[in-house]
This record gives sequence, C-alpha cells and structure tokens, in this order.
Amino acid sequence: MKMTSAKVLGVMTSGGDAPGMNAALRSVTRAALGTGFHVLGFDHGYEGILREQFHQLDSRSVSNIVQRGGTILKTARSAEFMSLDGVKKAAANLQKLGVNVMVLIGGDGTFRGAVDLGKFWSGQIIGIPGTIDNDLAGTDYTIGFDTAVNTAVEAIDKIRDTAASHERFFLVEVMGRHCGQIALEVGIAGGAEEILIPEQRVDIHRLCERLRAGRSRGKTSSIIVVAEGVDGGAAGIAEQLRKLSQNEYRVVILGYIQRGGHPSAKDRCLATRLGFHAVHAALNGESGKMAGEAGGKPVLVPFHIAIKGKRHVDPLYGRMMKFLNL
Ligand code: F6P
Repeated sequence: MKMTSAKVLGVMTSGGDAPGMNAALRSVTRAALGTGFHVLGFDHGYEGILREQFHQLDSRSVSNIVQRGGTILKTARSAEFMSLDGVKKAAANLQKLGVNVMVLIGGDGTFRGAVDLGKFWSGQIIGIPGTIDNDLAGTDYTIGFDTAVNTAVEAIDKIRDTAASHERFFLVEVMGRHCGQIALEVGIAGGAEEILIPEQRVDIHRLCERLRAGRSRGKTSSIIVVAEGVDGGAAGIAEQLRKLSQNEYRVVILGYIQRGGHPSAKDRCLATRLGFHAVHAALNGESGKMAGEAGGKPVLVPFHIAIKGKRHVDPLYGRMMKFLNL
C-alpha cells in the first residue's frame, strides 16, 4: 500500500452485531493509520454520523479487541437514516467533517444505506460484510457466520443429550433472517435429521412421514433445525406436526446467543484480511463496493449486487441429507 497524507477515513459498525466486527475495526484502523489516514470511529452506525458522535482512533484505541464479541463502536438500525432527509443530513455531516472515505462494517441493510448515501455524498464508500447471516452475494463468507454456526452447534450437541435421554423430538430454530445458510451448516455439523430453510418449500406431510419412517427404523429422538425465515418458524412447524402425528415436539429458539461470544479464529482472520482489503481498495480509489472474498481470493463486489443476497443452495446438501438421516 502506498502512503497518502492526512486524508480522513471514517469507520462504523451497523445493523445486527456480529462476532469479529471488532477484529475488522482493528484491522481497518491500523491499516488506515499505517497508510497515512486520520481515522474517525462513528458510534451506533448511521446514527453516529447523524448526531456527529465520533472519536479519533489511534492504534491503542483498538488494542485488546481482536478477541471480543459485539462491537466497541456500538451499532444500531437507524430509523432517521432511512428517510431522505436523514440520508441528506448524513451526507452533509460527512462533508462538513472532511471525511474522505467511509468504511461500513455491516450487512445488507447497511449496504442499502450505502447506496443511498452515495447519491448525496461524493466521498468513497467501502463495505465489509459483517453479519452472522452469510446472506450477501459475491463473498464466500460474512464475518460472524462461522462463530454463530459454532455457537448453535454447541447448543445442539447439548440438546441432543437430553433429546436422546428422554427420547424426544426437538425443533431448534436458528437465525438467518430470510436466508438458510446458518441452518444448513448448523444442521449438517449438528447431525440434524431434518433441515428446514426458507429457500425450499416445506412439505409438512412429507416431513411428518420421514419422521415416522425414522421412528420405525429405531430413531427414538431427532433434531430438526429450522431457519427463522421458514413460514411460522419452529413453533409453527411444531404445531402442524402435532396436528398430523399426535406426537410431542419440543421447540428451542436459540435467538441472540448466536450473535454473542468470542469470535472464532476463522472469523478473526477473515475480519483482519477484509479490513486490510477494504483500506487497500480505498487507496486504489474504489468506491461503492464491498470488500469480500470469493474462492478464498479478495474481490470487490458492487453494493447493488451484494444486497441481492445468496439465493443458491448447493444441491449437494439435499442429496446428502437423503443418506445422512437414514
Ligand atoms: O441480521 C442479523 C440478525 O441477527 C438476523 O439473523 C435476525 O433476523 C436479525 O438480525 C434480528 O434483528 P434485531 O437485532 O433487530 O432483532
């Protein structure tokens, strides 16, 4: 990276927090400082720009955070920024503060906001994918996904102990908003009998039949992983199954524990690589793009493509499940 002089780089975290956001912030801050930027950390995402709440960050500001979950900059989903007046105000504030580059660490909502901001602000905007959902197109993984999957798998391992002891069937709901990526990985790694995701229609009669067939093959307990985006969620599916089979189904909603905790080594490394990648992209004059990785290589993905989301579900998962739950 070449050295530049006294440009101002702002950084913020926005939307749902994700483990590894702090590691990304540390990497962005140090890469930017090392290449001659002044660095400003805005609090609470877009809210911080609107309220002009920021701190000048130096190397020590980001000490001892690589291992911390959450985000030291705090985060928010700003209602004011969603209005046209809010976007214009944020653009005017960045102009007034002399910010040249904004690095936004967040998910699809954050990048939708970035597209709007880019219409009124002439500075450079670079995104870093930070969300547990892994629902952004063009990047293999988002920061936080690996940790969230590991947290959920750990929980499922525990649920399996009690499920086996009591010979019960459990529906375990995982996060992911409209996307089934967390459910897929959690289901495979947790040895689930069934995985239900919003990308695939749930045929409740066939599901009921598969569970019945499992019982007749000697399965006395089962784990069904349900993505929160599936119609009715785990509670709704359990209700339908109860009506069809008279059996008992316990429901566990893992919820926000999936967003907390120390980031995994994989998330820390991804966050660190992407932080450097984002600053490098800014130095190369890039804007309006997310710094991601595809096939393990750094890529820059225009925001409008990234926010289209991951729609593709590897058909291998479906083929594998036919055999794995035998
Ligand atoms: O996008 C991350 C996420 O945790 C989703 O998985 C979930 O649907 C959503 O955020 C919850 O949002 P909130 O924090 O606003 O309740």
